[in-house]
Amino acid sequence: MSEKVSKELIFIIDDEETIRDGCKQVLEKSGHAVITAGNGLDGIRIAREKHPNLVFVDLKMPGMSGLEIIDILLKDIPYVVLVVITGYASIVSAVESMKRGAYDYLPKPFTPDQLRAVTKRGLEHRNLRIEAKMLRDAKEQVEKDFITFVSHEMRSPLVTIQQYMEALKIVAGGCLSDEAVDIIERCDKRIRNLEDLVEHWLDMSRIENGTLTQKKEPVNLPAIVARSMDEMMPLCQRRGLEMEKELPGDLPAVIGDEESLVRVLINIIGNATKYTPSGGRIHIAAEYDDLDVTISISDTGTGIPRDKIPFIFDPFFRGKGKDDRQRGSGLGLSFCKRIMEAHGGKIDVSSEEGKGTTFVLRFHR
Ligand SMILES: Nc1ncnc2c1ncn2[C@@H]1O[C@H](COP(=O)(O)OP(=O)(O)OP(=O)(O)O)[C@@H](O)[C@H]1O
Ligand SMILES: [Mg+2]
Repeated sequence: MSEKVSKELIFIIDDEETIRDGCKQVLEKSGHAVITAGNGLDGIRIAREKHPNLVFVDLKMPGMSGLEIIDILLKDIPYVVLVVITGYASIVSAVESMKRGAYDYLPKPFTPDQLRAVTKRGLEHRNLRIEAKMLRDAKEQVEKDFITFVSHEMRSPLVTIQQYMEALKIVAGGCLSDEAVDIIERCDKRIRNLEDLVEHWLDMSRIENGTLTQKKEPVNLPAIVARSMDEMMPLCQRRGLEMEKELPGDLPAVIGDEESLVRVLINIIGNATKYTPSGGRIHIAAEYDDLDVTISISDTGTGIPRDKIPFIFDPFFRGKGKDDRQRGSGLGLSFCKRIMEAHGGKIDVSSEEGKGTTFVLRFHR
């Protein structure tokens, strides 16, 4: 440990020569490497070149102000820890420098023991910060590796299997018995479910590491409604559902990530198609006032039992599915909720059993 500390470079910026020399002597005796500068400008120049680990800055020097020096050093020197030396017992200026990012302060006059104690604390603080950053980076890497793993090792084979089954249907065509065709259909459905699950997983981990919600751009809501409807229309038609929209022409844009908002709408429309019997209707509307913009997605489906409503946004919560098309992972709505929260917005639901369900996405303007 002492070996590690002895390699750390300490920098003293003070216009008083006695302070510079005194500090240098004390800290060198404790095994540190010490450099000094007599004014702010030299201080910044030397610090940029030598990248010290810990810098003592006198707050009151002719020329540049101590606060200016703090700003520049914190910006330019990675992981630097700053301790300000206050000329008199000026708590106000010490507090001000801590607000700007200094780690600690040392009021003049100080004893060698005080100097050593502050130095030790400062260097420990720096090591902890570096360790924390390394842990964060490692965690991020694991998450990224996971996403790559899932998408390459799971998604691609699923897509391939599906293609083979399509090919099988074409190649074997008329030779297959009805029973065999039925088995292939069942496999096909299960694989689609698995694909959906993998997609949800990926979405969730993309939220975790921020890649799904990184963008903050003006999003044109009618455009994302149109995109989501285009994508879901074939499914609606297959399931005998009507889908229509009614949007004001001058809907204001909201700030966010277009791709993830499309995924939110697709999830909600997807639910509506699952829980609305054929012949039903999905209606998408929007409105706005001075504060909020809302999009609502209503269906004429089964509705959600009142006692289940509090749980539907929980990960893995699923209502009891009645038929095959109601399969799912129970991750869809929790994904939607997290995306909406990442946008500073909200998702709400109102539902009546037997009548239908309305989801409302609310964005702040
Ligand atoms: N429009 C709807 N009508 C009726 N019930 C709904 C509707 N939307 C959601 N639900 C209920 O809420 C539950 C949770 O929905 P969620 O989208 O999170 O999961 P899921 O659709 O079951 O699975 P997936 O992860 O594939 O989306 C559903 O299982 C269903 O019981
Ligand atoms: Mg769903």
